[in-house]
Amino acid sequence: MTDTPPASSGPASSGNVTRVEHRVSSESRRKHNGHAGGVLWFTGLSASGKSTLAIETESRLFAAGYQAYMLDGDNLRHGLNSDLGFSPEDRVENIRRVGALAALFADAGMVVICAFISPYRADRDLARAAAGSGFHEVHIKADLATCEARDVKGLYRRARAGEIPDFTGISAPYEPPETCELVIDTNQNSVAASAEEIFRYVKEKFPLGLV
Ligand code: ADX
Repeated sequence: MTDTPPASSGPASSGNVTRVEHRVSSESRRKHNGHAGGVLWFTGLSASGKSTLAIETESRLFAAGYQAYMLDGDNLRHGLNSDLGFSPEDRVENIRRVGALAALFADAGMVVICAFISPYRADRDLARAAAGSGFHEVHIKADLATCEARDVKGLYRRARAGEIPDFTGISAPYEPPETCELVIDTNQNSVAASAEEIFRYVKEKFPLGLV
């Protein structure tokens, strides 16, 4: 796998900042970890199964010897992104930040599993550009009726009642991927089958020991 560009390769915040170079190369990190770093970007509606499958994928990868870490929308909105809501502008900023964060994790040599609705195609493309090679977009696909019937957090019911504005699928848009590396249909498949499919995909794309 080719080297990713430096994850800090975006525009500078001012003309008065200068980049410093790492002394540890990406290749050294790959050898150290036994695999390349990269980003698995899960996108899909609320209740489509992103977090469930991200948790499952993280633990399976870890048990198999990978350096793996999950970044989840609900979690990050408690910390790094606690200043952001769900307006279109805030979602753009949410994904800009987590895209940059994921790229840094990947540059550090980890397989990072991102679980964000990330409703806008353009923002997912920016996250892809931030990470360089080794970015894999995974559509966790379930139709709105299925997600609404699951309603694990009771949010769809509240959104229908008008209590939650800008709710994805109800009063805010979701742009499904037109092309992506993997589609996981959670309408049809069990959690175990979906997790197995993702795990097999990752093992193929991030082979252990081949560095
Ligand atoms: S994103 O659209 O900016 O990518 P993100 O994945 O970080 O969203 O957060 C989505 C989570 O926030 C959902 O799983 C849900 O629990 C919660 N949430 C609260 N309000 C909303 C809303 N208006 N639309 C979608 N999800 C919401």
